[in-house]
Amino acid sequence: MAVELTVYPDDCDAFGHLNQASFLTLFERARWDALAQGPGADAFTRQGVWPAVRRTTIEYHQQVFPGERLRFTLELIHHGQTSFAVRQVARKTKSGAVAADAEFLFVCIGRDGRPVPVPADVSRSFGVRPSRRTGATQQFTVRGISLTADVGGDGPALLFVHGFPLDRTMWRPLTAALTGWRRIAPDLRGMGQSEGPDGGYQLTAYADDLAALLDALHVERAVVCGLSMGGYVAFELLRRHPGRISALILMSTRATPDDADGRAKRDTMIARVRRDGPAFLADEMTPKLLAPMSLQTMPDVVQQVRAMAAAGSPHGIAGALAAMRDRPDSTALLPTITVPTLVLAGRDDQLIPVAAARAMADAIPDAQHAIIPSAGHLPPLEQPVNTGRVVREFLEALP
Ligand code: MLT
Repeated sequence: MAVELTVYPDDCDAFGHLNQASFLTLFERARWDALAQGPGADAFTRQGVWPAVRRTTIEYHQQVFPGERLRFTLELIHHGQTSFAVRQVARKTKSGAVAADAEFLFVCIGRDGRPVPVPADVSRSFGVRPSRRTGATQQFTVRGISLTADVGGDGPALLFVHGFPLDRTMWRPLTAALTGWRRIAPDLRGMGQSEGPDGGYQLTAYADDLAALLDALHVERAVVCGLSMGGYVAFELLRRHPGRISALILMSTRATPDDADGRAKRDTMIARVRRDGPAFLADEMTPKLLAPMSLQTMPDVVQQVRAMAAAGSPHGIAGALAAMRDRPDSTALLPTITVPTLVLAGRDDQLIPVAAARAMADAIPDAQHAIIPSAGHLPPLEQPVNTGRVVREFLEALP
């Protein structure tokens, strides 16, 4: 979708160049014009929906003067249930130079002020087919158990490893933005929809399952992206299957093991899961997983996290707790990592302090380090656009 607009003198400031407020207005006008070319400028309002801007980032690259024409392109970079984000680029039509580029995150609001789904014809005009937007969910039998995974897209492989007590669906807002890659997001054994046998829950087993899943998909090497417990599994993959990892993204995770207090807490939780089942985890974990701001302002994310936390199988949840309790110290592994690595953390993470992420990044040769503002332990769900941008930039720079 491309739209051309002319800059008028009254868009410009005392120095004669396009001022910031007018630039924002032009971005907005270009969006409405693009919508008018597609499903119609009333595509939202005829459904009783308003796209409210929740976040904007804009980078100005060049001055623009009256009479110049700008060509605005628009690309969808995130599509969630009730939110979507677009990237817009404004280029000078004469030189082709980028004058500014911006990202806008919208949440669709109904008449009662609550978030509502993105209207279907708007999704379609972005080329999104909602039922397949994250690829197909598939079943694989590996090492004697059935694993469920979302697999979609073409290109170099990305393997996403979820945290505890979550499942593969936590990656959907992020994977939707990573077009041009083959995205593989499995449920670990005993979590989500993967089979939960009565035993076999060591980090080594999760890692071997994932290597076998890559075999089943004929993937030789993948960029491995692990969040929290998924990071612990990534360390195990590094130890056991280093040849399968082309690059690493370590999100909201740490290399150090549990201390005595941490291990005792795991034991208490294991006993409780065995006694009561995992439903209590929704109340227990959600306030720790999300930043206070997300808890207040993102009801759809809160609901998704609660649903994931309550849905695990008792064997799988107790097994994951024991696996995390018994995990080795991976600190000595860090200086030996030779693949490109990105360490990413939410600034408001209540479970793993940002200082731990920084220390980990410092210990890995040439690692990149990114802190995502306004995110807790789950940046891909709480800040999918910013997280997606950081991840994309890292991936695009890979050799
Ligand atoms: C996770 O998010 O995977 C867990 O909180 C990690 C942990 O409990 O150590």
